Amino acid sequence: MLTGQKPIVVVGSINLDLVTKAEHIPVVGETVLGDEFQMHPGGKGANQAVAIARLGYPVRMIGRLGSDLFGGQLRVDLQSSGVDLSGVEEADGPSGVAAIIVAPHGENCIVVTPGANVHVSPEYVDLHAEIIRNAGMVLTQLEIPIETVRHLAEICHRHGVPMMLDPAPAQKLPPDLLTHIQWFTPNETEAAFYVSSGLHETLDGLTPSATAHSLLTQGPRGILLKMGARGAYLATDGIEEYLNAIAVEAIDTTAAGDAFNGAFAVGLQLGKTVRESARFAVAAAAHSVTRPGAQPSMPVIREVEKMLENALLTSGTDAHGAITARSTEPQWKGKGVVD
Ligand code: RIB
Repeated sequence: MLTGQKPIVVVGSINLDLVTKAEHIPVVGETVLGDEFQMHPGGKGANQAVAIARLGYPVRMIGRLGSDLFGGQLRVDLQSSGVDLSGVEEADGPSGVAAIIVAPHGENCIVVTPGANVHVSPEYVDLHAEIIRNAGMVLTQLEIPIETVRHLAEICHRHGVPMMLDPAPAQKLPPDLLTHIQWFTPNETEAAFYVSSGLHETLDGLTPSATAHSLLTQGPRGILLKMGARGAYLATDGIEEYLNAIAVEAIDTTAAGDAFNGAFAVGLQLGKTVRESARFAVAAAAHSVTRPGAQPSMPVIREVEKMLENALLTSGTDAHGAITARSTEPQWKGKGVVD
């Protein structure tokens, strides 16, 4: 644990993931036979908290667990990963669960039943406002009530605490919410939703740069577009950069976006530049897809550094020390498609 550093605080969901591996993801009305079933601790909030803890940075979580057997197990898992749970309390009723199907190349689809996560209310956040006021940065997602996210953004804004919003799963946001957000981190599907106000599912014809510009006009200070196997696109205060992906053999992409957000926050809190932090996040996400499960896949700092070193050996660096294997900006190629 680092001393003298303000902890990162994650306000978000805690789920038990029920994961089935299958030959392919079924279409509507289709039944497929699964190969293997596993249960893993998950939830976008808890995953981001574990990502941070595994990288060795102090992290506190504000969230709710159910009063069922899953709740007890999820608490033990989070504690053993090193997450401070002083903001996590039990709520009567079931814990959050996620039904996940993972196909052979790691692609997935997820249905979340929120359970206790609906009890992460604005009033509950107020009970733990002290934790938020003392944060170096606050991370949240959209698996808790939207009015809570709005309330949290107001608290962070009032106390000058930078907030990162991972808009997953995508849903309509209250007006002005994004003006209180420092970092907005959609993936391609989510970016399409916010660029077109929910009208389109893909960004065909729009470059990542045009997408980022459109999102910046809605208020956040910085955009990080998560482009899966094609890397990421960073846009903020005079910086625009495409970050090339690191090639790995993906076996399960579940929570790669959570690894990315956690690592980006850690990079910034450790004093890395925005570019270096984004690169660190790309490497953490790449490492996470090489292991199964959500929280069990989160890398430790040495693993991320090693992945970056290996990527540098194969790609070279530009004048800013960023890895540049590509000089022109890629086009979107549809949901999660690799070029
Ligand atoms: O981002 C991955 C997570 O989404 C899973 O762990 C699942 O619980 C859902 O919240």
